[in-house]
Amino acid sequence: MTDKSSNLKTQASDTQGSQSQDPQPPGLETQLEQLRADARGAIAAAESLEQLEQLRVNYLGKKGQLSQILRGMGKLGPADRPRIGALANEVKVALQEDLEKGSELLRSAEIQKQLQAETLDVTMPGVVLPQGRIHPLNGVIDRAIDIFVGLGYTVATGPEMETDYYNFEALNTPKDHPARDMQDTFYLPDGNLLRTHTSSVQIRYMEQNEPPLRVIAPGRVYRRDTVDATHSAVFHQVELLAVDKGLTFTDLKGTIKEFLREMFGKVDIRFRASYFPFTEPSAEVDVQWQGKWLEVLGCGMVDPNVFKAVGYDPEVYSGFAAGFGVERFAMVLHQLDDIRRLYSSDLRVLRQF
Ligand code: DAH
Repeated sequence: MTDKSSNLKTQASDTQGSQSQDPQPPGLETQLEQLRADARGAIAAAESLEQLEQLRVNYLGKKGQLSQILRGMGKLGPADRPRIGALANEVKVALQEDLEKGSELLRSAEIQKQLQAETLDVTMPGVVLPQGRIHPLNGVIDRAIDIFVGLGYTVATGPEMETDYYNFEALNTPKDHPARDMQDTFYLPDGNLLRTHTSSVQIRYMEQNEPPLRVIAPGRVYRRDTVDATHSAVFHQVELLAVDKGLTFTDLKGTIKEFLREMFGKVDIRFRASYFPFTEPSAEVDVQWQGKWLEVLGCGMVDPNVFKAVGYDPEVYSGFAAGFGVERFAMVLHQLDDIRRLYSSDLRVLRQF
């Protein structure tokens, strides 16, 4: 009996013991605490936002560890449910906070890193990029424009393909005129030609404008010249034209002198009588260059026949004109020995300007 009762007692106490643990299945609380501890450690150790996101999915996602633990809630007695539920919620909120803080930290660390990587050291020597330069021919044209604009001139242009009329006829150079030989011409199949000088722009400009006028016309010209050290089939000129009441050869001389002084600095020049069909009188101008006289331009008083061609009254107006070769000026200014250096695009040459 005693045995029985003690047996019973033992049984009872056994049953009691197991019963007292039963309402709280082993580990659910511990599991939650363990999850909290694990997750905190992992979140603190995360090194990127991607890793953090991975952890969030891992622990708090729909199929994450927290959900899995909570599946065990169904087996809980009603007495334990609220407690475990509250704990689960506490863990969830705590982990969400940790994740939020962690991502803030990582984000600011990333910004910090980016700022550091992009920091400019203003004391570093700069990167020197290769610098383009003005080609010597453009340099001469630009300077000529500057000088004449300073004297009240404006810039005009005309086509490189010209008619016989603008290039010759209107410039008092009819078909049989011997002066045409001075400028061996490229004729085009349609009877037009490549202008042999910028003087054609004089005619075009005067047709469109009334005097008084002062213009310069820079541009490309073409001649059937054999290429050598001082000749090219394509070269550049700057044309000059002034028309007004009472202009004289003295005005021409003064203008040319001023131009050459500004172009070359102090230089000896001389006017030499010459001939052009479109001017009367005509002159060529030489400058002293390396102990020699060097011809740099042609000029003269506009021939009355030219004025008649454009409908100006030569009794009322007079004018002067000039034309100079840009290559010639560039060669003198830069001491070039061969005109072909100006067209060869040889960087060893061009870098010197
Ligand atoms: N057109 C001439 C030439 O190409 C240069 C020239 C001479 C232009 C006298 C002029 C001038 O305007 O008056 O050789």
